Amino acid sequence: VIGGIAARLGTPAYLVGGCVRDLLQNRPAPDLDLAIEGDVRALAESPPLQQPHAQCQLHPRFGTATLRYPDGFRLDFARCRIEHYPAPATLPEVRPGDIHSDLARRDFTINAMAVDLNPTTFGELLDPHGGRADLRQGLLRVLHAGSFLDDPTRILRGLRFAVRFQFRLEKGTRALLREALAQDILARLSGARLWRELQYLLELSDLPIALERLGAWRLWPLLRPEPADMESLLVRIRRGHQEIDWFRRHCPDETLFDAAVWLTILWRDIPWTEAEKRLHYWPVAGGHRILRDLRLLPDMPGALTRADRPSAAGRLWERLSLPGLLALCAEYPETDIMVESGHQHLRRQRWLSSPLNGKELQALGLTPGPRLGEVLERLRNARLDGEIKDKETARQWLIG
Ligand code: CTP
Repeated sequence: VIGGIAARLGTPAYLVGGCVRDLLQNRPAPDLDLAIEGDVRALAESPPLQQPHAQCQLHPRFGTATLRYPDGFRLDFARCRIEHYPAPATLPEVRPGDIHSDLARRDFTINAMAVDLNPTTFGELLDPHGGRADLRQGLLRVLHAGSFLDDPTRILRGLRFAVRFQFRLEKGTRALLREALAQDILARLSGARLWRELQYLLELSDLPIALERLGAWRLWPLLRPEPADMESLLVRIRRGHQEIDWFRRHCPDETLFDAAVWLTILWRDIPWTEAEKRLHYWPVAGGHRILRDLRLLPDMPGALTRADRPSAAGRLWERLSLPGLLALCAEYPETDIMVESGHQHLRRQRWLSSPLNGKELQALGLTPGPRLGEVLERLRNARLDGEIKDKETARQWLIG
């Protein structure tokens, strides 16, 4: 359909990038990327594509458009373009081009193929860089020698593809990676671009493999000053996944920032200043809470062990953020008493309030002020410790 409309409009259309790679590997392609030699708007807004409730978003400045269908399916249109990098690690200058120049600007050969949608040549594969052969051999190969220097995010993108598809770097590309790292090219990336790629990496379900590759590619310094002790880290990551799953099952309405759990686990045994240095540079949501947790965590196990009442343990757990609490639980076996205490706090105790509220206490003769706050706190603690259960026992407890 799209090819037919594009031909009538005189704007040749091609399927490109990740979806071609995924289709050739018989993997489902969740969204389709289309490269257009011509007017993106005319095609994206053409009536046959505008089914009821389809939402069209145009970005004329970038020559792109997105069509979202009610079932979640998405079509991304982009004008074919030529890219020029004025300096290493900067954003490129772009101008309109044809499909060949559009393929030539891409990261890896496996992502630089297109399928022609023109009715007369429909289905033809355009593969000027040998992507199909690399796909068969499981190789990641850049298109030219300056690729990693132009756009260092490709290093982390490559790592991600290596993990997802279990591919390896082609020999020449491996040498280019080493050269780029020797020039410390990743240090030239903005914190925002670097963090976005790292976050994708941390959220891979194969995180242990991703971290092993990170080590093999000598990229540990991005995350830590020293490589991690993989044996103990892998145990904590497995437990971290269990903790995150547990949380999603028991608290389905709450949001959790998984990357914060992983950073806390990864940074638990490094100097605090090393974590701070990275968070100063990366725009991590809630980064200050990760730093606060890292300060609190060393003393938590001892303090929790000494806590003689549920209310005392509750006060300690409350000092940690949610990711910090789950990261601490991930340091213990699933059946450990520490994990039980953390889960108990999350499921029940943190929601328990004083059985009598401020108004009810005033009705009993207390005047508003700090003293009333203290009484509310003591009532809540007594409830956490099972000494009072309802309003009536709370009143008796107060009188007593
Ligand atoms: N691309 C690139 N260099 C980048 C980012 C993207 O060359 N730094 C190109 C690649 O051709 C890539 C396409 O843009 O295939 C789309 O990028 P993106 O959606 O980020 O990745 P996909 O390859 O589609 O992979 P995913 O399945 O992760 O979405």
